[in-house]
Amino acid sequence: MQLFDFESKYASDVAEMINTARWKERLFTNPQYHVTPDSLVEYIKDKKKNCKQYWMLIAIEKGKVIGYIDFEITNNNEGLLRGIYLKHNYRNKGIGRKMIAEAERLLKNNGCNVIYAYIFEDNADAIRFLERQGYLYQKAEKHSSRNKKYIVMKKEIIY
Ligand SMILES: CC(C)(COP(=O)(O)OP(=O)(O)OC[C@H]1O[C@@H](n2cnc3c(N)ncnc32)[C@H](O)[C@@H]1OP(=O)(O)O)[C@@H](O)C(=O)NCCC(=O)NCCS
Repeated sequence: MQLFDFESKYASDVAEMINTARWKERLFTNPQYHVTPDSLVEYIKDKKKNCKQYWMLIAIEKGKVIGYIDFEITNNNEGLLRGIYLKHNYRNKGIGRKMIAEAERLLKNNGCNVIYAYIFEDNADAIRFLERQGYLYQKAEKHSSRNKKYIVMKKEIIY
């Protein structure tokens, strides 16, 4: 698996993954709109303009898009993991761990010493995955538009 910066040629694959995660798998806590390739390109442009720093990295294996990870640096200089997703056949093979390690490396190199992630409380696999990567439970909060809670998790980056 190799990670590449987002380019518009990946937009339809990534939009499909986001829509699957959001609508079929009910995994994501961020705003609930249907993503089109064009709206994704606009979203990423906007993020790159308005965030201190924002990355969308695409995971490729044998020429195929298999997943993505996106994350940013907030105005308080904190890292925020927005989304990490792998297609089903590529899960539980150690790939997610490599993706998050690269995100942490980039955040750390750009001055972050803490990273937050928000995960729905019923996404036990993702919570366990993040715990294994050193993220600690902070608190549970009610999601504004869905009738369930999400968990705030935090990792301190040690220099
Ligand atoms: C969350 C997610 C990104 C994790 O990625 P992943 O590649 O499945 O995770 P990893 O393979 O790195 O680690 C998961 C398990 O595989 C194990 N593993 C690691 N390397 C392995 C290898 N080479 N072979 C087999 N298993 C391995 C890990 O030990 C871990 O098991 P454990 O949690 O029991 O210790 C992925 O499951 C996913 O896309 N889920 C859906 C999207 C989602 O929920 N995202 C989070 C909300 S934003």
